Amino acid sequence: MRTITLFEGDGIGPEITKEVVRILNALQLPLQFEPYEIGQTAYDHTGELIPQDAIDSIKRNKVALKAPVTTPIGKGFRSVNVGLRLAFDLYANIRPAKSLPSVITRYDDVDLVVFRENTEDLYIGIEEVIDENTVHAIKKITRKASERIIRAAFDYAVTNNRKKVTCVHKANILKKSDGLFLQIFNEIKNEYPDIISNDLIVDNTCMQLVMNPKQFDVMVMPNLYGDILSDLTSGLIGGLGLLPSANKNDEYAIFEAVHGSAPDIAGKNIANPTALLLSACMMLDHLGYMEEADRIRKAINKVLTSTAIRTKDLGGTATTTEYTDAIIANL
Ligand code: NAI
Repeated sequence: MRTITLFEGDGIGPEITKEVVRILNALQLPLQFEPYEIGQTAYDHTGELIPQDAIDSIKRNKVALKAPVTTPIGKGFRSVNVGLRLAFDLYANIRPAKSLPSVITRYDDVDLVVFRENTEDLYIGIEEVIDENTVHAIKKITRKASERIIRAAFDYAVTNNRKKVTCVHKANILKKSDGLFLQIFNEIKNEYPDIISNDLIVDNTCMQLVMNPKQFDVMVMPNLYGDILSDLTSGLIGGLGLLPSANKNDEYAIFEAVHGSAPDIAGKNIANPTALLLSACMMLDHLGYMEEADRIRKAINKVLTSTAIRTKDLGGTATTTEYTDAIIANL
């Protein structure tokens, strides 16, 4: 029996986690879940956003499935997500955006993967108030972190039969920081002669993604661009309710939806659990249950083919529970 650390999260987190676990249990795999609280709920109960028992559980199990959490704003807290990623040095944030044949959007065959550096850039959160009208923020780019995310993107391309890796940057303005990231990309690409490589400035990338997303395959970039561009890529495939992700290094992996805790729809049983479910599929792939992951992906597509059983974000009227029931019926 393999044990998975489970974070039900805040806002819509518990609603979608319950349904995703119901689907995973329907597969009757030798998996069991060890639930822990983090985020706002943990803070309310323990005074800590990431209690030590949650950290210890990940250390034991190496794999976690995590629903979105709320980080209290403006009280000097570091983001829970950033905290977890840093605690385990989860340097690769992998966000695949793949069109679902059943969800009609502007483009029908988007299939790209964003590799977002996950440990540095402006996310180190070092800001300095110079005077009451001036604030500086530190953008940190290191060779070590850049090398490992760029290499991870190329290795993924090789392993998954992908053809191209694009480096996204702003090295024309940030000549030293993004300049270093681009320089390292240009060094490492030579180790992968069978993979096509190119680089694009981030603003141009936004336009290119909206105009012609099919030109992209694997994309690698510093932290902040990855955060912003992956929300954009979710828009290409039908919205935040559909975009999964993995935070990984060689030892640990935390799988989570890209979206947040959606407080505006929490408690209404209308949230779309697909992004967390597809994240669970990435987890199943990681654990070696590729066939079972595909069974779930196929069931999602079958259910979404009919507009009758969709959640509100996809134009339907189904509740989260009704949608889950339909997926289980189609497994
Ligand atoms: P959000 O992603 O929670 O919501 C943005 C919009 O998308 C909202 O209109 C929401 O209703 C909708 N939405 C998101 N997920 C959905 C789903 N599964 N089904 C249907 N509609 C969905 O972003 P927002 O409002 O900026 O952040 C809310 C909270 O989430 C904040 O406290 C933020 O810190 C936290 N957050 C947590 C993340 C995580 O734990 N990984 C990631 C992003 C934000």
